[in-house]
Amino acid sequence: MTVQKGQPQKYVGQRVSRVDGPDKVRGAATYTAEFDLPELAHAVLVSATIPHGSIRSIDEKAARAVPGVLDILTHESQGIELKPVKAYPRGPAGTSVLPLQSPRIEFRGQPVALVVAESLEAAQHAAQLLEIEYDASDFRATLEQGLHGLPLLDRLPLPPLGHSRGNVKKGLKDAASTFEATYDTPVHHHNPLEMHAVIAAWDGDERVTIYEPTQWMQSAQHTLAAMLGLEPDNVHVISPFVGGGFGSKATTWPHLPTVVLAARKLGRPVKLVLSRAQMFAAVGYRAATTSAYSVGLDDTAHLTAMKLDAQTQTGVSDLFPEQVGNVPKMLYANPNMDLKYTLIRTHAGPNIMMRAPGEASGSFGLEVLMDELAEKAGLDPLEFRRRNHAPENSDPESGKPYSSKHLLECYDRAAEAFGWAGRNPEIGSMRDGHTLIGWGMATATYPVYASAATARARLCADGHVEIEAGSHDIGTGTYSILAGIAADSLGLAIERITVKLGDSRLPKNGYSGGSRTASSVGSAVLAAAMGLREELMEAATHDSASPLFGVAGQDIHPRDGGLYLGETDQGEDYIAILKRLGKDQHEVYRETIPHEGSQKHLDQLKAGKDGSVAAVAERFARHSWGAVFVEVRIDPDFMTPRVSRVVGAFDIGQVINAKTAESQLTGGMVWGVGMALHEETHTDARTGLILNSNLAEYHIPVNADIGSVQAIALDHPDFHVSALGARGAGEIGIVGTAAAVANAIYHATGKRVRETPITLDKLL
Ligand code: MOS
Repeated sequence: MTVQKGQPQKYVGQRVSRVDGPDKVRGAATYTAEFDLPELAHAVLVSATIPHGSIRSIDEKAARAVPGVLDILTHESQGIELKPVKAYPRGPAGTSVLPLQSPRIEFRGQPVALVVAESLEAAQHAAQLLEIEYDASDFRATLEQGLHGLPLLDRLPLPPLGHSRGNVKKGLKDAASTFEATYDTPVHHHNPLEMHAVIAAWDGDERVTIYEPTQWMQSAQHTLAAMLGLEPDNVHVISPFVGGGFGSKATTWPHLPTVVLAARKLGRPVKLVLSRAQMFAAVGYRAATTSAYSVGLDDTAHLTAMKLDAQTQTGVSDLFPEQVGNVPKMLYANPNMDLKYTLIRTHAGPNIMMRAPGEASGSFGLEVLMDELAEKAGLDPLEFRRRNHAPENSDPESGKPYSSKHLLECYDRAAEAFGWAGRNPEIGSMRDGHTLIGWGMATATYPVYASAATARARLCADGHVEIEAGSHDIGTGTYSILAGIAADSLGLAIERITVKLGDSRLPKNGYSGGSRTASSVGSAVLAAAMGLREELMEAATHDSASPLFGVAGQDIHPRDGGLYLGETDQGEDYIAILKRLGKDQHEVYRETIPHEGSQKHLDQLKAGKDGSVAAVAERFARHSWGAVFVEVRIDPDFMTPRVSRVVGAFDIGQVINAKTAESQLTGGMVWGVGMALHEETHTDARTGLILNSNLAEYHIPVNADIGSVQAIALDHPDFHVSALGARGAGEIGIVGTAAAVANAIYHATGKRVRETPITLDKLL
């Protein structure tokens, strides 16, 4: 039961437009903030204005006097106790801070009060009148302050995340040449178009419905149930559309239980939408990192050893590592490796994964390093990477064979499309008139996470099919991807498939992150749709009144909304088969265990946990691959780098929907350009507060910053990963791209910048 390569598919592998596109364009796709409930009250969150200390006093008098104010929740309120939950690594990241439980402040932007009113305007006005006084304490708000200047809060070695093989000391000693360099990446904030929002509506004291844009309904359900002491089944999460998440919508941030508590206290539904500034406060960020490398090369330019000391920041009570070592530890053939992490606690709040967490920040250092080493070895950067390519049969990290690896083909395809052969290696040698041209490249890779999944397929009386999965469409195209899989399995037009997602009462599924939803949930939908097809076939071939009576299963083709003998008219449509069954609907439910997984993963999923198999599995190391080539154009008088062209080729397994996959890959590369040139959260060293918590000053690329971007997807299904042969497209596009930009800038200018963003002050 696989989508076989070569078998023509009407939808799978094709460019299928979003089935939810028309609703989105018409405004008919309802996002959390747009739900309206009877008696809905409006809330405004008040955030701490110091990074560390405690609340001395709160004067609510003026705020409470505002007409329409219903309640103000603070740590002094009665009846809002929450039970602590296990935080990362035992539980979800970001959940160690229980809101409004004490006057203690441990990060900037920590929620300190919730004002609820009849109208949003009244709540906003009252929130401004709330007078809060603080006792401020010393703080370290940045990685820089954690490492230097101020006394260390805490340094935590993370041995289980480290990696060691061979003998690095010996590898460095025996090397023909050695090289050391340190690479830095700053804090980044996720900025999905859609703000975090929540509506909580109680039904009595034991049941609550939560509307929330989330990447992980089951985590919200189980975490809130644990905090409130409820049965998970009594927490109903509704999340039909998510306007981008990028990792920030994957956990239960403190505003969520705050609103749930307010709704219970008031006996009315309460809605909260965070402001853009609050999107920089208590909903996570990508931690700043510093990666110190020592590497050795032999006299044929092969790596002999690599030592990586990674320091990354985290919050005070959560310990979430930004895993910059993920890529360096496995990408290139190298017998000797030492990877060590140190986590620095800061009063910046809990950090969390952000698109290709670890891989995006870690590949910047590694791939600039590779460019520097290539130059030292006197080799073309692409040739140097080919020389250090890790063979298909041996993952340097684990020694296991790869499930499927076509990285060399990615190099070929992208280099060819880019025209890399025409590169003059001399620095500053390529010009267009006065303008300097630089060409750089980098390798991309991203691990495969595959989850247990469940789905239901239901044939309805009018012949259309409903697909149900308690998963999410975070903007990536899940509705369209799943509809295409079901349509091909059943020989139905895609318009005859309705996909239902975003409700925790639908068949259970896990986290929509780590580029896993299409392959994991897609496998369950494939199983359910194929199961439905088999049962309908069974019904038709065993009924003497059916034109298909006695026909062998393999001769029957699902097409045109029914089952037919080969290309003939002999057969009947699904409506007729359903009548034959004497039912007005027929449904099939299926559970899938990912390849190299077991019942344990399904049990974990059903318990509200992740339920996914690690990238390095029992038999195979499973990763996706890519190569990114970049052209920059720089005016030598102003040193303003512009990215004019990006070409990336990616080996991501079977492409399920060529249009949405290309969109993910393109978006990832655009983000990589932003990471290279624009993105950085600035923290005021004196106050510990963020200076650019808005989209005017937190720079991301706009149309004028992006030239041509070409994504090429190789089409090699990987059946060691999933029944669909798919791996994942969501994150790999950003990996390596920032380094390719930096390398192109070096090629144009001779300026080696070892930190992002590469702003013009660093080039002058
Ligand atoms: Mo992602 S950072 O796995 O949403």
